[in-house]
Amino acid sequence: MLISAAVDVRKNAYAPYSGFSVGAALLTKSGEIFTGCNVENISYRLTVCAEQTALASAVAQGHRDFVSIAVAADSNQPIVPCGACRQMLAEFNPSLSVIMVTTTGKEEEATLSNLLPRPSQGILESKRNV
Ligand code: THU
Repeated sequence: MLISAAVDVRKNAYAPYSGFSVGAALLTKSGEIFTGCNVENISYRLTVCAEQTALASAVAQGHRDFVSIAVAADSNQPIVPCGACRQMLAEFNPSLSVIMVTTTGKEEEATLSNLLPRPSQGILESKRNV
């Protein structure tokens, strides 16, 4: 379900510059799924990843409790989220389950805390979630 959502939304990726489409599907504690795809830009540096758009969509719709994310790409091996996306995801759940899949069915799973052992904390814990 989560994996197929990531594979499906990949079709909406806007990736004319890299030609590399990515889909992501984020699962909430309450069982809802929010999807995202990469959206590139001619400036290149403004490109946003699939994980980031899935996260922004979920948060915009009032969800912050995430248990898992699936990321789908047409690559030889499953791809791991980039450093920026790891940090974005860690904001909400540093122990998020990360499921990485290829369109040919290769699968890998990792815990975000292993992919990003020391997420940036910035402001004090007490000031978060305001
Ligand atoms: N990309 C993602 O959307 N997620 C990842 O985990 C890795 C990379 C995108 C960014 C860019 O549009 C394209 O894939 C090539 O790197």
